[in-house]
Amino acid sequence: MTTDILVERASGVMTIALNRPDKKNAITSAMYSAMADALDAARDDAGIRAILIRGTPGAFSAGNDLEDFMKAPPTSDDAPVLRFLRAISTAQKPVVASVAGVAVGIGTTLLLHCDAVYAAQTATFSLPFAQLALCPEAASSLLLPRVAGYTLAAEKLLLGEPFDATEAHRMGIVNRLLPADEVDAFAFAQAAKLAALPASSLRVTKALMKRASDEEIAQRMREEILHFGKLLLAPEAREAMTAFFQKRKPDFKQFD
Ligand code: COA
Repeated sequence: MTTDILVERASGVMTIALNRPDKKNAITSAMYSAMADALDAARDDAGIRAILIRGTPGAFSAGNDLEDFMKAPPTSDDAPVLRFLRAISTAQKPVVASVAGVAVGIGTTLLLHCDAVYAAQTATFSLPFAQLALCPEAASSLLLPRVAGYTLAAEKLLLGEPFDATEAHRMGIVNRLLPADEVDAFAFAQAAKLAALPASSLRVTKALMKRASDEEIAQRMREEILHFGKLLLAPEAREAMTAFFQKRKPDFKQFD
């Protein structure tokens, strides 16, 4: 079992903490599986009434582990990343996120499936799918234009440049900004407040808000992964990831 994901239970809240700070909490297949297992356990445990996802000081998550991407590309529906995405996007209990630092790729797109997101004023966000010769995942091609409007979503998903917490807040990805050393405690307190409310009421309220988009989200995730899987195996993505580890700029001009 991986120690890169820590799961704690307190005050009716399950905290799922990404705990790989030396790699900026880049997520491996083992970590996705551990997070999916935790979400399944939360679903089946009446004592858990809210879920909090957080990273470590300075890093929420650097997104998918790029080495893992090359070794075990998620090309099918049963890949650990998809198991995790299905679990978070269909969670009936409230999910809160605390973003104390950098949030890249799925580190940002998973936030679109949370019910409340609190971030450090110093947090940064980015969706560098095109820079990695990939395409959006986690139904972000559907949800980000909905949340932020088309032009902002397109700018972030096509250019892939980092944006700051103020912009993430303005785009509607984040509910509230806090000093970096306060965000985890604030997010936990919000999750604990949710845990103290009637679970039945929260369940019905969340289901009513999400019902119209449930099937669309599941369908978009399946569609995205088909493209994503093909792009990931193409030479452009290999070049982008090799360039990252060699600390150089990728050369895409060599491809037609
Ligand atoms: N996969 C694998 N390793 C990663 C990683 C990732 N997604 N992100 C960071 N790391 C590793 C780095 O290789 C480095 O390892 P090393 O110390 O053995 O050299 C370590 O984590 C620290 O990263 P570093 O780049 O030195 O930190 P930074 O603070 O300068 O930058 C990021 C942080 C997140 C902005 C930068 O690491 C980055 O851009 N990572 C890639 C993000 C990405 O493309 N994710 C996939 C999205 S689909």
